[in-house]
Amino acid sequence: MEEISQEKIQTGLRTHSLGWRFCFFSSVSSTNALLHEKAKAGEEEGLVVAASRQLQGRGRRGRDWFSSPGGLYLSFLLRPSVALQEWGRITFLMALVLIELLQEDYCLPALMKWPNDIQLHGKKLSGILTELSRDGKGDYYLITGMGVNVNQKREHWPPHLTDRAISLAEALQQELDPNDLLLSFLRNFQEAYHQFLQGQLDPVARHLHYSSTLGQRVHLTSVTGDYQGQALEITPQGSLRVLCMDGIIREFFEGDITVRKMDT
Ligand code: BTN
Repeated sequence: MEEISQEKIQTGLRTHSLGWRFCFFSSVSSTNALLHEKAKAGEEEGLVVAASRQLQGRGRRGRDWFSSPGGLYLSFLLRPSVALQEWGRITFLMALVLIELLQEDYCLPALMKWPNDIQLHGKKLSGILTELSRDGKGDYYLITGMGVNVNQKREHWPPHLTDRAISLAEALQQELDPNDLLLSFLRNFQEAYHQFLQGQLDPVARHLHYSSTLGQRVHLTSVTGDYQGQALEITPQGSLRVLCMDGIIREFFEGDITVRKMDT
């Protein structure tokens, strides 16, 4: 199985004169956790950490993120020069860049399941964890981290993931060089991030072309309870408006959803 090479990525980035500073670890506790340490100590925007294995990968809502070799684990430290209310939209930007890259480079039709999953053929291919915090000077920063299932084999998933997760290698029936994927992602994300900062790209509006959630009948578990209804709208800030069974339209800023078939 091909490994990520720090040298290949750095050389590839230099030829495109991008501003990201890139660090690769074959094994790390969590790429998000490592970047928090750096950010707290005052590290500037643009540090990217990737790993091919995490020992304590973190998912949303305090869950673990299964991070075996063969996956790509990638985090960015950002200090976006836009209003704080806009920062949450960066999760959609990450998802959008991955989805469009998979379509263009690999002809794979990935979709986004609100609020942070990328799915392929109805299974989870990737998850994004975006965390806002403050550094030692009190300045806000954002860490956005993405786990992508790249070369894992079906027989290597733990039983609870076998039917729910998919890797690119499984979908394409061949292994990928993670360097190609990573380099394309870094280039495309840099460009998309720049457009986002300039107000030229609305990631939430554009992701609607790839939403597997909108218009669907959903079951949603949030901190306030469980709800069922129809996913009516994803607002410009990325929250989900659901017409619930009791006739009330509720707005959710987080949660886990399951899409229900219309006849159940
Ligand atoms: C989720 O679906 O719950 C989000 C998963 C996010 C996992 C990525 S892997 C890279 C980065 N480092 C972490 O510890 N978590 C994120």
